[in-house]
Amino acid sequence: MYDRIINSVKHINEATAGFAPEIGIILGTGLGGLVQEIDIKHSLPYEQIPDFPVSTVEGHSGKLIFGMLGGKRIVAMQGRFHYYEGYTMQQVVFPVRVMKFLGITNLFLSNASGGVNPDFEVGDLMLITDHINLFPAHPLIGKNDDRLGPRFPDMSEAYDHSLLARAKAVAAELGIKVQEGVYVGLSGPTFETPAEYKYVRIIGGDTVGMSTVPEVITARHMNLPCFGISVITDLGVPGKIVEVSHEEVQKVAKVAEKQMTRLMTELIARI
Ligand code: HPA
Repeated sequence: MYDRIINSVKHINEATAGFAPEIGIILGTGLGGLVQEIDIKHSLPYEQIPDFPVSTVEGHSGKLIFGMLGGKRIVAMQGRFHYYEGYTMQQVVFPVRVMKFLGITNLFLSNASGGVNPDFEVGDLMLITDHINLFPAHPLIGKNDDRLGPRFPDMSEAYDHSLLARAKAVAAELGIKVQEGVYVGLSGPTFETPAEYKYVRIIGGDTVGMSTVPEVITARHMNLPCFGISVITDLGVPGKIVEVSHEEVQKVAKVAEKQMTRLMTELIARI
């Protein structure tokens, strides 16, 4: 793993003339529009990066984008790797390892999710305060490489408290309504049954989705502070559950995308 990370990093550094990003961004389904705000300096399709998996799911285009956003040097993944696509957990989190070794000091993530908190509405943004890992596989299982991080990583502050506090202040200032809560990550690709949404709520979740948790675990393994926003594209709340499709998720995400982009951009500017 380590050698493959270094190999990717070496290639990327050559292709970007040693751009050295400060912040990494992983964009969720239907939320790739943030890329339009980036003053792009380099754009590398995943298939051109040695050892990188290649993205397949609709709504993800599969590029690593290097440029300026909010006055910072950033690297953004346009399209992430989901476990349900058939990648191993090691493949899902590989880009997070690479971004860390490119030099990022903060990781920002977004995702589309189902809201199970009855106070939430479709289109809401939720600042992720914590997560529950329900994936059937864990990215850190196997022999630990101490060059990457410790055998038993602490997860007491999976989502950085100071970034959260700053995000709340920025949202208030910009007049953007934000919720806060716990994201539950599970494999998909099925959306949840009503009984599963209820279960997610009972165990302490506010939103549920099919991403983010593996990447955050891996980032924390490497002591990388994380900030995440969940966009609520549908509701898993009794009485409000309707049929959901990937198209609907993308459609709602597109609407909420503008606010999410503003919030992320402004937060990045203030780091
Ligand atoms: N469940 C899981 N993943 C999702 C959902 C959902 O309701 N909405 C968007 N991604």
